[in-house]
Amino acid sequence: MTELILGIESSCDETAAAVVAEGRSVLSSVVDSQVAEHALYGGVVPEIASRSHLRSILPVIDRALDEAGCGLDDLAAIAVTHRPGLVGSLLVGLSAAKALAFTRGLPLIGVHHIEAHVYAATMGAPRDAVRYPCVALVASGGHTALYLSRSPLEMSQLATTRDDAAGEAFDKVAHLLGLPYPGGPAVSALAEQGDPGAIPFPRYRPKDGGLGFSFSGLKTAVLYHLRGGDALAPTPEVDQIPDRADVAASFQEAVVDALVKTTLRAAGQEGCEQVLVAGGVACNRRLRQRLAQEALEEGIATFFPEPEWCTDNAVMIAGLGWHHLSAGQLSGFDLDALPR
Ligand code: KG4
Ligand code: ZN
Repeated sequence: MTELILGIESSCDETAAAVVAEGRSVLSSVVDSQVAEHALYGGVVPEIASRSHLRSILPVIDRALDEAGCGLDDLAAIAVTHRPGLVGSLLVGLSAAKALAFTRGLPLIGVHHIEAHVYAATMGAPRDAVRYPCVALVASGGHTALYLSRSPLEMSQLATTRDDAAGEAFDKVAHLLGLPYPGGPAVSALAEQGDPGAIPFPRYRPKDGGLGFSFSGLKTAVLYHLRGGDALAPTPEVDQIPDRADVAASFQEAVVDALVKTTLRAAGQEGCEQVLVAGGVACNRRLRQRLAQEALEEGIATFFPEPEWCTDNAVMIAGLGWHHLSAGQLSGFDLDALPR
């Protein structure tokens, strides 16, 4: 019988539920985004996020089951994000998952949010197209790191950012340019009209020649550029920035440059011919285009999730949950929410 998994995701600012068959076939996917509630503050407010999850979690789960045309008794298991994330947010999804699993006698499966993002990159590829080990790049609002992925269930970190995440840099630069939150989509849309070579923003490279990212210096360079090179000058109003599109394009190019070059160096070092890319920044068109092309020139294949499954969703949780189920990796009802 086909094994259906209900996935539940509430680690940050999206309340999501999905039903996925055998790790691949998506029967339903519901994402209730809180972006509008947080936009006013320019970032995610944990208190608001937990309350909003509480309001949405049961209706979102109901809709996911309805749209999949199934009931709780048709499920093989319930998979839920239990780490990492905002603890108050994680607890909402986790409590709902535990209650449903307990009352229906269903297996409960705790899923690692980052491993699930990486798994999303493999879901659209033909079966067996992804040959492990692979290098995985995760670039989102909260994380920017490289991993060695030995299987969907086995990942170890190769490098990370020493300060901001790539998505966070997009959000901060968007704010400087007067663009709405979340900044990634807005900056990349404006960048389409600009020249990526107009401003030579700095590219970070670790002094020890190792792998690693840093985006806070880049953000400061953008700020100083906007102030006309005078660090102490006031930040100009949006309508007084003559080269907004060039700033957006040149900033984006610097981020993409760092992500592409470091990822390909990691693949070379690890001897991997396949690269998985995931997280909200994996939606970025310039990143997708440049990484795919430059990897190909080195004989490396790249896998990206469908754009809708780059950002937080429950399809990736249900998908990876099925692999845990197949491997007999079930969780107890003492499963805890772990922020890190
Ligand atoms: O994975 P995600 O939904 O949430 C976290 O787990 O952080 O990623 C959200 C981040 C935001 O910082 C957003 O600005 C960024 O991904 N993002 C993008 C694009 N779409 C979303 N960054 C660059 N280009 C995009 N097209
Ligand atoms: Zn995420």
